[in-house]
Amino acid sequence: IMLPRCAFSVCHVFVLVLCLSSAEDFDWTKNDHSSFYYGTFPAGFSWGAGSSAYQTEGAWDKDGKGLSIWDVFSHKKGKIQRNETGDSSCEGYHKVKDDVSLMKELKLNHYRFSISWPRLIPTGIKSDHINEKGIQYYDELINHLLENQITPIVTLYHWDLPQVLQEKYGGWQNISMVNHFNEYANLCFERFGNRVKYWITFNNPWSVAVEGYETGEHAPGLKLRGTGAYRAAHHIIKAHAKVWHSYDTQWRGKQKGLVGISLSGDWGEPVDISNQKDIEAAERYVQFYVGWFATPIFHGDYPQVMKDFIGRKSVQQGLGTSRLPSFSPQEKSYIKGTCDFLGIGHFTTRYITQKNNPSGRSSSSNYFTDRDLAELVDPRWPDPGSEWLYSVPWGFRRLLNFVKTQYGNPMVYVTENGVSEKMLCTELCDDWRIQYYKDYINEMMKAIKDGVNVKGYTAWSLLDKFEWDEGYSERFGLYYVDFRNKNKPRYPKASVQFYKRIISANGFPSQREVENWRRKAVETCSSSNQLLAADPLTSHMEMVTEIVVPTVCTLSILLSAIFLMFLLRRRN
Ligand code: NOJ
Repeated sequence: IMLPRCAFSVCHVFVLVLCLSSAEDFDWTKNDHSSFYYGTFPAGFSWGAGSSAYQTEGAWDKDGKGLSIWDVFSHKKGKIQRNETGDSSCEGYHKVKDDVSLMKELKLNHYRFSISWPRLIPTGIKSDHINEKGIQYYDELINHLLENQITPIVTLYHWDLPQVLQEKYGGWQNISMVNHFNEYANLCFERFGNRVKYWITFNNPWSVAVEGYETGEHAPGLKLRGTGAYRAAHHIIKAHAKVWHSYDTQWRGKQKGLVGISLSGDWGEPVDISNQKDIEAAERYVQFYVGWFATPIFHGDYPQVMKDFIGRKSVQQGLGTSRLPSFSPQEKSYIKGTCDFLGIGHFTTRYITQKNNPSGRSSSSNYFTDRDLAELVDPRWPDPGSEWLYSVPWGFRRLLNFVKTQYGNPMVYVTENGVSEKMLCTELCDDWRIQYYKDYINEMMKAIKDGVNVKGYTAWSLLDKFEWDEGYSERFGLYYVDFRNKNKPRYPKASVQFYKRIISANGFPSQREVENWRRKAVETCSSSNQLLAADPLTSHMEMVTEIVVPTVCTLSILLSAIFLMFLLRRRN
């Protein structure tokens, strides 16, 4: 079903109405202390933390795993900060028990992780070969989680496409991915579906499409400006729908699980709330982000505004058809409604204003210029870590309300939310992260009060890990990982103590208590800081035992042999 043309303006009116009506309960614009909401989450609300395979597992070439596009991309010089790779990362592949005990310590209800497709199917093509060792690893992880009453939420695709599929077919540029992905998904349902009840087909397809096939900042590094992202997204949406139908017809009956998708989106706030052009530009920003994927999945087709803008610009370029592909009527009805729950990954917000990007024959249009807008930030917004990540908690509540109204109040799991810190920061007293979680989780609580159907929250991430093109320079973890040390030891940051208390209380009981948690969290982190400070010494001692001792031994044996030979000669 196509959105009627008038839907766009109705949405604007709605946004305004929403702002006005909810202003009675909560102040939409302020984020001062007095706007904090004390209370608890609905009973049964699920608290978790997350990770992804390439970012944490390491063991990139162990036990029969095939290459992924990220293995190949990260080994190319100049693609990743300091040419770092995920080769060993957190060594999560070898630390299942350790990591599950960290989750226990946090009292998590769920853990979100992803399966590496080439670890299960090395070439990506199921009929080629299935790697039983890979299956065993995920079996062990799932069983361990369940033994500890932690629900696994499993992502099938967190960006690590088998390299063979990229080389042979062009990866997500090619429609044949739909069937290969479906076969892989069915293998996962067959082997793990008796124990896994929450499946996420794709993580953040926006990033796969835009950064993988349009800007080339991510693997596979293609710069197909103006078409690459739309084409990749088109095939991803079809692949998602196919997998949902497979589950629905073949597995749901006996396994009784749910299949969703995880979409990432920043919130876009009009710079000038009284300017209709800015309001429309901000709406466009969100439609080109979340709407690009959610509208086909919930309503059967791309957002009208994307069809209009990309279509018009394509005509201006002299193209015969739109650079945005279209779905046939059969495809629309096949895709519509293929979502049992919607995963939302959210980190930050932008102010948006209208900005025309005229597209003539000579100009090079791309995803970004197609939107006709400019993004701005408020310099007062805190930005403790990643360059792009400003802490703007109120944007979270608005995005969640947008999801509720646009897609018919679906069941929502927050699949990613968190903040990073800068590179060489070995500070475990992460007060700013406590502040971020406290405020963002509180805005989520307000969204639930607004009627958004949020069932669970996933802090991103459990551990510090490989942060894609940023390498290890950005640390998102609740636990600090010492990457200098071969054993990759984990240390709790102060935010572990704080998050743990939110989980135990299922919310924020009172100002006094929450202040208390914060004080205690910051107190305990100083002892972890001392442990970490001693770590370079430990690594140094390890180096002594591993390199210096054997070298000295070998040298002494050699010298004694020479000395012996010398003695024997003299005797003769
Ligand atoms: C979203 C991605 O899904 C995740 O892998 C990444 O760590 C976060 N963004 C933070 O950049």
